[in-house]
Amino acid sequence: MSSQDRAMVAEQEVGRINAFFPILPRLGNRWAAARPWEGRTIALNVHLTNVTAAFLRELMLGGGRFVVSAANTRTTDAGAVDLMRSAGVEVYTGGDGEDRHQQALSHDPSILVDGGFELFRTLFDKRREAVANVEAGVEISRTGISALRGRTGVPFPVVNINDGRLKDKVENRHGVGESIWQAVALTTGMHLAGRRALVVGYGPVGRGLASYARAAGMAVEVAETDPVRRLFAHYDGYPTPTLDDGLSRAGVVVTATGRSVAVSRAALAHARDGVVLINAGHGGDEIDIDAIRKAAVGRDDVATQVTRYQMEDGRRFTVLGDGHPLNIVTNSGSPEPVLLHFAVLGLTLEWLAGRPALNAGEVLVTDDIENRAAQIALDALQAAGG
Ligand SMILES: NC(=O)c1ccc[n+]([C@@H]2O[C@H](COP(=O)([O-])OP(=O)(O)OC[C@H]3O[C@@H](n4cnc5c(N)ncnc54)[C@H](O)[C@@H]3O)[C@@H](O)[C@H]2O)c1
Repeated sequence: MSSQDRAMVAEQEVGRINAFFPILPRLGNRWAAARPWEGRTIALNVHLTNVTAAFLRELMLGGGRFVVSAANTRTTDAGAVDLMRSAGVEVYTGGDGEDRHQQALSHDPSILVDGGFELFRTLFDKRREAVANVEAGVEISRTGISALRGRTGVPFPVVNINDGRLKDKVENRHGVGESIWQAVALTTGMHLAGRRALVVGYGPVGRGLASYARAAGMAVEVAETDPVRRLFAHYDGYPTPTLDDGLSRAGVVVTATGRSVAVSRAALAHARDGVVLINAGHGGDEIDIDAIRKAAVGRDDVATQVTRYQMEDGRRFTVLGDGHPLNIVTNSGSPEPVLLHFAVLGLTLEWLAGRPALNAGEVLVTDDIENRAAQIALDALQAAGG
């Protein structure tokens, strides 16, 4: 397919997204009138998907210049990239072997948006000369906020839009909860009812995964290291075994911990033959796929995003999406929660463009921004018959 054809397919997808939840076009209309980032360069490190293309299209109406780098090269959709490029966005996919975040920073942005702290890390560690030009940043992910908190001396304000009232409750819980299981059904053709699921990690993402799995008729258990969250899982009605014990029963395992190697090769010694391994967390290493790959004696690429490894002891492990967040890798599920998160991001950028007086370091997204995003979401739902 030519890049023009791919862009056309992505364009149709953007049209579909906007038809059922027209929150972003509503914002685009405001930005077209007010041109809030005229003269500014804004760099974003985000997943390069159709939802991102839908967002960038509206942002561009507000003037300014946008440069984008891929948050995870495995979640990039070629059509979304083509569509963004055809609209004049500078997109760095990392496909040319270059450091995509350095490439984005070479445009000297004054506002940075990061989904995982990689752009900030590149700025501080590899491109210090560009720091002086940065007025403010926004971090959109849980993983990125943890990294921000581990860093001292950040010289500009970074708005945390992950820990407001909306993201946990809507995107992490309902968005990921629903879309991961849709992606599992899409990639494997499996019917979920009656299968035994183990959810590893019971933050908002794990909680959503567990409740949507239960709604689909799965028998769900939860492995969680934090006793408080383990207790929440208990009162939500799930057995809370240790990871090893839970693995010994599960037919489907899904991780949502935000930690590297939460499911190690040693833990997998307890897993059943035929277990399906899925990750919903930000990175690609929550399940130690590398160790599985190295130890495997055989490999069968069963279908797109479905790989079955034959282990020496006769067991088979099926890995979906190569351990990367499956809903994003497969571009599946309802885009609404992500669009809402982007609406909060857009309103935050609009606010930052007005240069509010802020202290350096982490700044929580304001109630006013979230109230406005929620109201626009409700209006958009009503307009679309929701
Ligand atoms: N796929 C997506 O579309 C998507 C969307 C939003 C967030 N995320 C990602 O999902 C992950 C989880 O998000 P969250 O908001 O629930 O995070 P969170 O930090 O609130 O929750 C993670 C939970 O995992 C637990 N945990 C950590 N290590 C563990 C281990 N080894 N075994 C069992 N439990 C363990 C923690 O105690 C915590 O309760 C993050 O990486 C986040 O960036 C993905």
